[in-house]
Amino acid sequence: MPTQGFCTVIVGCQWGDEGKGKIVDVLAEGVDIVARYQGGANAGHTVHVGEDEFILHQIPSGVLHPGRRCLLGNGVVLDIRQFFEEYDELLERGVELEGRVGVSRRAQLLLPYHKLLDKAVENAAATKIGTTGRGIGPAYEDKAGRRGLRVADLGNPERLHKRVAAAQERIMRRLEQLGAGVTDELEAAMEEALGLGERLLSIATDTGPEITDALNAGKRVLLEGAQGTALDLDHGTYPFVTSSNTTAASAATGTGIGPTSIDAVVGVVKAYTTRVGEGPLPSAFSPEMDEHVRTLGSEFGATTGRPRRCGWFDSVLARHAARVNGLTGLAVTKLDVLDTLPTLEVATAYRMPDGSIAENFPADTWSLSSVEPIYESLPGWQAPTGEVRKLEDLPSNARAYLDRIEELSGAPVRWVSVGTKRSQIIPVG
Ligand code: IMP
Repeated sequence: MPTQGFCTVIVGCQWGDEGKGKIVDVLAEGVDIVARYQGGANAGHTVHVGEDEFILHQIPSGVLHPGRRCLLGNGVVLDIRQFFEEYDELLERGVELEGRVGVSRRAQLLLPYHKLLDKAVENAAATKIGTTGRGIGPAYEDKAGRRGLRVADLGNPERLHKRVAAAQERIMRRLEQLGAGVTDELEAAMEEALGLGERLLSIATDTGPEITDALNAGKRVLLEGAQGTALDLDHGTYPFVTSSNTTAASAATGTGIGPTSIDAVVGVVKAYTTRVGEGPLPSAFSPEMDEHVRTLGSEFGATTGRPRRCGWFDSVLARHAARVNGLTGLAVTKLDVLDTLPTLEVATAYRMPDGSIAENFPADTWSLSSVEPIYESLPGWQAPTGEVRKLEDLPSNARAYLDRIEELSGAPVRWVSVGTKRSQIIPVG
């Protein structure tokens, strides 16, 4: 039901790494709660505060604003060890966390054996996905297979240990079939993870009631997506996707609120396109341009350090994302990375291998590697934009580029980011 408060979903509209962390950090200024609704430590949200850089994998980016409550919803797969490493590092760096972080009792536990299995499956696979190796696929498999363990299970050690033992035995059999060796480190890692159970229970909550009550009391909430629309399990480039629904509808399921409590959906797009991991990237640059923009934009994975492949802005994907997520606004990031380019191309449609023209994002992922994007050329602005704070102060060619992105995507541009700092953001309208 609609509430007195205001609930905004922030969702990635490409292959992740769109700069959601920065947008959440900027918007968190005006909210009371920030909650993650899916994914796990595969995410890497980079936020710059003054001269400091923070890379957050599981704790929502809103944590860097004092006083905001930060939640991990039932839709996440929680790596307990890594979660507390991140938590303790924030404490060490002086971030006040007392009473600020809560984890859903319904969230799935991602345990060390999930990571071993992730790597073993990937090593043995004929078609590699290029996963982050964080155990995401196996943890969601256990969830869907109704074999997973949840935060609430930590409250009953006897039942927990029985279920963990059964899970571990099953996973060991699979590892053996895959020809993967298991070292003694697994036992120690499992002990360490489960040993953190009490500590995790001390911050456990029910995110559905907590968020709903806050909204009914007139508070403002941000639901923070991880990865992007093209990595969504249903709507992305399957099978080269992550194992959760990254798109906006999942924000309700993944936190336990009703979909009618959501008031706005902000889609984050980079001013160009990047992808890390395997799978097609239709608007990929030529090799020289790829190298050039990767250097200009420091396009290396925040979680794995892998180089990201880069390409032109793809409005076929942006339109798909606008529809699937029901976007009410767009945040365009890293516009400044394009400052020196003389000409920019935007993919407006794809010529399919059979010669037909696709304006909607095709379901057949395999055909995407041989589509020919139809490009529209726009003149570059060849002027620095990093110091611009008002839309009217942007070079006219940069504004024309943003107007075209808005027109082709079908969602209004509401923010433009022109650098990594909090202050480097242009509100639009
Ligand atoms: P997984 O989520 O680790 O299973 O990886 C599946 C695919 O999603 C791989 O192509 C990863 O590179 C990609 N991926 C997962 N998380 C992120 C992210 O936060 N940013 C970009 N790509 C990601």
